[in-house]
Amino acid sequence: MSNILVGVTGGIACYKAAYLVREFVRAGHNVKVMMTKNAEKFVGHTTFEALSLNKVLRDDDTPTPISHIDYALWADICIIAPATANIIGKINAGIADNELLSTVLALTCPLVLAPAMNTNMFHNIAVQENIKSLKSKGVNIIDTESGLLACQTTGEGKMAEPSQIAEKVIYILSNRKNNLQIENDLLNGINILITAGPTKEYIDPVRYITNKSSGKMGYALAEEAYKMGANITLISGEVNISSSLPDIKFVTSADDMYNLFLDNFNGADIIIMAAAVADYTPDYKHNNKIKKKDEVMELKLIKTKDILAYAGHNKTDNQVLVGFAAETDNMEEYAKDKLSKKNADIIAANDVSRKDIGFDSDNNEITLYFKNGDKRNTGKQSKSDIAKIILTESAILLNEKRNN
Ligand code: PMT
Repeated sequence: MSNILVGVTGGIACYKAAYLVREFVRAGHNVKVMMTKNAEKFVGHTTFEALSLNKVLRDDDTPTPISHIDYALWADICIIAPATANIIGKINAGIADNELLSTVLALTCPLVLAPAMNTNMFHNIAVQENIKSLKSKGVNIIDTESGLLACQTTGEGKMAEPSQIAEKVIYILSNRKNNLQIENDLLNGINILITAGPTKEYIDPVRYITNKSSGKMGYALAEEAYKMGANITLISGEVNISSSLPDIKFVTSADDMYNLFLDNFNGADIIIMAAAVADYTPDYKHNNKIKKKDEVMELKLIKTKDILAYAGHNKTDNQVLVGFAAETDNMEEYAKDKLSKKNADIIAANDVSRKDIGFDSDNNEITLYFKNGDKRNTGKQSKSDIAKIILTESAILLNEKRNN
């Protein structure tokens, strides 16, 4: 059983912290609570003393003159729920102007924050920069949810449910105990190059050859990696996705993608190629619209450059390369063939004949084929959850390469 320190700061979600404390206590953990003055305006400290069976660390009534040090050293993990914009900013800046913040500065254990605030506050650039900066320092941030907020608006910024927060805290604790690195650590500061979406191969100014890729899989990878603190370069075909990712480089054709890929390849630690790149392109692009004349019209297509194969044959020992395989039949055979011919480290194969996954769906089911013969099936999940799995596996492989 572990010592869990729960920090409660001033927001309407304070009442949920009571459920969180109860959940930890019921699971047999030792729990201590610290509250800011503003938190006490929402829920009284006696509630938390009754639930945790321990004295609450408060600004006006500290158990000892150095309680912040005692509480920090006692904790195996510290979770602040709700974490307001104010507290997030102060923790990022290293400010210690109350007992809770002084304790946070003295922590030697993992710190987890469950933000909760109004949607506009949550999207404020300063708050987003503080969150990104905290992640890069190894602080675990639990994603907020979208929903009806106390201010009666609907949007992002709602604190995750106590059961989800508890699950994440226990997960971090158990990983730490097993001396494993947690998700956030794995990608901090890692440079990831991702390709996404379709390419368009123009025949004349108004006609082109393309495919059904929406870009959702590639964008999910980029968004999740960004949340995990990685530096992202996303090379994207033309898609209908609105994304707040900072550095998206748009391309049209397979040839454009190849050229931009070359410019960004060397600096990447992990390369993930989710784009559906045309294998063939018209050998000639007409400058004017082709007129309808004959009964039959023949189009000559030539092979595009194989970007994945280029990456596979030019990567260094410290780069991890993940290719995709979009198959309608014999998935395992074709995926393994791509793994070896393209010299990839992992092939993420999906069955694109299925309507419930693959192209344009919010879900996917991937089988990962590894160079050492291992394979892992993700089951059907959201593209975001699949992305987390692919990223985690890639990061583990990168760590192994770096340690060899
Ligand atoms: O975009 P979504 O709607 O979310 O759909 C997701 C997806 C189905 C597009 C995605 O999961 C996927 O499977 N992407 C790869 C699509 C594809 O082109 O697969 P492929 O088996 O034809 O190509 C194999 C690999 O080679 C891919 O990594 C591809 O990016 C790469 N390739 C292909 C051709 C080429 N000229 N250069 C390449 O690098």
